[in-house]
Amino acid sequence: MKNNKTKIIAISNQKSSGKTTTAINIGAALAMKGSKVLMIDFDAQESLSNFFGFYGAEKNIAQLLFDVIDKRADINVAEYICHNDENDLDIIPTNLSDMNDLSKIIIAERGKEMVLRRLLTRYDVFSEYDYILIDCNASVDITVDNALTAADYVLIPCWAAPFNYGPLANTIVQIEDIRDELNPELKILGIIATFCERTNNCKMTKQMLFENYPNKICRTTISRTAAADTSLREKAAVFSNSKSNKTAQEYKALADELLDRMK
Ligand SMILES: Nc1ncnc2c1ncn2[C@@H]1O[C@H](COP(=O)(O)OP(=O)(O)OP(=O)(O)O)[C@@H](O)[C@H]1O
Ligand SMILES: [Mg+2]
Repeated sequence: MKNNKTKIIAISNQKSSGKTTTAINIGAALAMKGSKVLMIDFDAQESLSNFFGFYGAEKNIAQLLFDVIDKRADINVAEYICHNDENDLDIIPTNLSDMNDLSKIIIAERGKEMVLRRLLTRYDVFSEYDYILIDCNASVDITVDNALTAADYVLIPCWAAPFNYGPLANTIVQIEDIRDELNPELKILGIIATFCERTNNCKMTKQMLFENYPNKICRTTISRTAAADTSLREKAAVFSNSKSNKTAQEYKALADELLDRMK
């Protein structure tokens, strides 16, 4: 059973906007502050799982949801939760083929958008967490609808470039639809300008983000840096105390801003 203390945050937007990198660093930043954090990889690509060392995990979020769909009484949720020492947080990994099967099976369910919410509200183990972060895939599909229906907040990283700015409106429409129809409590925690660099394109896009989404856009922006590239790492950038590590500084500042916004 989820209690009121547990905050569920879905991280959602279009392709390659920095969702997984933001999930990893915000999750780790919250864990560094002493919070108990669970990360759920809800994207068949397995990027978040791979970062934490899981490849094609047998015990994965899709399997857990198959059990919920089958109304099995003997689900041992704890078996699906893995601890990651390196980043001091817990993770439920994903699996490419199981996640693809889930997308097809879930469509036939009554209350098809509610399956993840059913899981997170039904089991006591989830109420032990301060934060549950759900890394979504990049499409407007039923799994993202599930994440948004289960969440208290949605975080929207947006590559500060025109190609990512346009589709942002679609993401917001999807969020508003879910809020109006299924989850009135859902709030946009913030839009985050990511991959920021010194180009005119970026400057213009940032200006549009700040002008058109004045209440939603986070003051903290994330620069495009080699340190942010998670592909070859196992530990989140935020663990670096180096003043020269811009990514660490920015994601720590972003975590503080988000905590402020959740007050
Ligand atoms: N600020 C940044 N600077 C440089 N590289 C970054 C930055 N943020 C993310 N990356 C890299 O860019 C790629 C895409 O980022 P990420 O995986 O976080 O985006 P995503 O929105 O999760 O993508 P997808 O839609 O495929 O799930 C990754 O290789 C990541 O390591
Ligand atoms: Mg991703």
